[in-house]
Amino acid sequence: MQSRTKDVHENGFTDQVIVCTQARDADFACCAGAFGDDVYEAVQAWLRERDVFWSHVYVSETSCLGLCSADGAALAIQPRDRWYSDVQPNDVPALLTREFGADATQLGPNNEAHDAH
Ligand code: FES
Repeated sequence: MQSRTKDVHENGFTDQVIVCTQARDADFACCAGAFGDDVYEAVQAWLRERDVFWSHVYVSETSCLGLCSADGAALAIQPRDRWYSDVQPNDVPALLTREFGADATQLGPNNEAHDAH
């Protein structure tokens, strides 16, 4: 086991967007059935356009975040402790602008563009 926290900080990573793409073979709603893959791709595209995708902001798919809805995917932004559900692909630009600023220059846990509490 190795502790890599120092490496991550030295490499310039400040934030992580975690998008639920969970599929479920049941009657319960799941993000795979509510645009999860499209939201994941929209997050990547928005960050890539601002040149912070995987240079400053990690993007990860995850399984269930416990915010399941048939109306959109769930995502979290860490370490700033932001949680969203019902996210549709066309919500992503406004959501990320709200969190990171229009140019994605407001990164890191203490640099929110907008107080979304
Ligand atoms: S399946 Fe995505 S939050 Fe539960």
